[in-house]
Amino acid sequence: MAVIADKCPDINVVVVDINKNRIKLWNDNDYSKLPIYEPGLDDVIRRCRNNNLWFSTDIKENIATSDMIFISVNTPTKTKGVGAGEASNLKWVESCAREVAIHAKGHTIVVEKSTLPVRTAEVIKNILEASQAKKNNSEKNSFDVLSNPEFLAEGSAIRDLEYPDRVLIGGDNPIAMNALGGIYENWVKKEKILYTNLWSSELAKLTANAFLAQRISSINSISALCEATGADVREVSRAIGTDHRIGSKFLDSGPGFGGSCFKKDILNLVYLSKYFKLPEVASFWESVVTLNNWHQNRVSRLIVEKLFGTLSCKKIAILGFSFKANTNDTRESAAIQICKNLIEEGAILHIHDPKVDVKQIEKDLNMKPIIDEEVKNLNKTNLGMWKMVKNLEDVFEEIDATLILTEWEDYSKINWQSASKKMRSPSWVFDSRSVVNQKNVIDAGLNFWRIGDGSSN
Ligand code: UDX
Repeated sequence: MAVIADKCPDINVVVVDINKNRIKLWNDNDYSKLPIYEPGLDDVIRRCRNNNLWFSTDIKENIATSDMIFISVNTPTKTKGVGAGEASNLKWVESCAREVAIHAKGHTIVVEKSTLPVRTAEVIKNILEASQAKKNNSEKNSFDVLSNPEFLAEGSAIRDLEYPDRVLIGGDNPIAMNALGGIYENWVKKEKILYTNLWSSELAKLTANAFLAQRISSINSISALCEATGADVREVSRAIGTDHRIGSKFLDSGPGFGGSCFKKDILNLVYLSKYFKLPEVASFWESVVTLNNWHQNRVSRLIVEKLFGTLSCKKIAILGFSFKANTNDTRESAAIQICKNLIEEGAILHIHDPKVDVKQIEKDLNMKPIIDEEVKNLNKTNLGMWKMVKNLEDVFEEIDATLILTEWEDYSKINWQSASKKMRSPSWVFDSRSVVNQKNVIDAGLNFWRIGDGSSN
């Protein structure tokens, strides 16, 4: 919405939320407090806020005065009831539709921006139409419902929005579709704006994420084979990526994909396929998630093996906790499962991440961090534990291994000569993101393992 405001000075954009604190932070003059860390976002907000971009908790008034309303709430995987573990929980979408139904005036175009299971537009339409049924003709309001899924990736969101590969608009009323397309035409070439029916648009979003995630599971599965055979997954990626039918993007083997979308969207596809009695389709897509879970556990198992079969009282530096670089988002981050596994094995983790807050890690690991004084006493109990280390230089103190889980740029610049002096001996560097210079690590007298590199095993 901030980018729409930036690109369309004639359009007033109001972002509303029931969370007062969040709106307060969006309005804070200290831009480091914005609720989301996203490179370049603060500059956009600086340019537009209080010109044509506002943040407000006055939902009723803003629904009533808007011509177009984007529903952009979260749709997490259901944890209980029908479809638990697979289907999306649509309660926030539904309650937004009900609010819109109550307060909208005249004609309103309602746009689904949240990623949703196919045919959700129908639910929104039903709620909006039912709300008008009991009204007199003179009081009736009208609606169009459009699907306009978002393809931006975190960390590069502003660029992705400014230069999108395509903008997708699904609907059945060309007038409403053109009204939305017209907004994007302020900065996106006409031929990049694709118009489809509602269901194709909804399904295209799930399919795009499923295909991307599938590539990562494919290459991660090959990484295990590379390690077993002496091949190098980076060479295999390069070799297959030059085939233009395959393409070179999304072929980096890592610790397993994370983020708020991939797993959730695949599980949505799985649920839909089962619902429409297509079990083979469901199990095909389910295997992408199964492989990802297996791969994350494979990384932690491998560390136990290399460290002589036990992690009890061993200290491991964890470099990176976010699900990828340039974001403070930890949702579904591979670091969560891998750190839990290592703690379970009795390891003491020194966790460093330039952007993730200690409170978030505490929530994700469901465990309080320890303070230095406690370590000495707790060490005797053989229990796993963790602490946060603010400075990268301090993370190496007395450790037995370093595990790189996020590709933050700083990690590729580590001086291994000086880091190794602080470590215990023998010590390991496990690089699950292929960001480290192998020679520098080995020259510093450290053991080295890299994902999918059969020659470093
Ligand atoms: C994704 C989609 O890319 C985006 O189009 C959609 O709108 C939302 O979901 P995002 O979750 O922000 O975006 O991250 P993305 O860059 O796609 O990465 C997802 C995960 O895959 C990360 O954990 C990343 O580290 C991992 N990944 C990505 C790899 O392991 N290897 C790769 O080659 C690429």
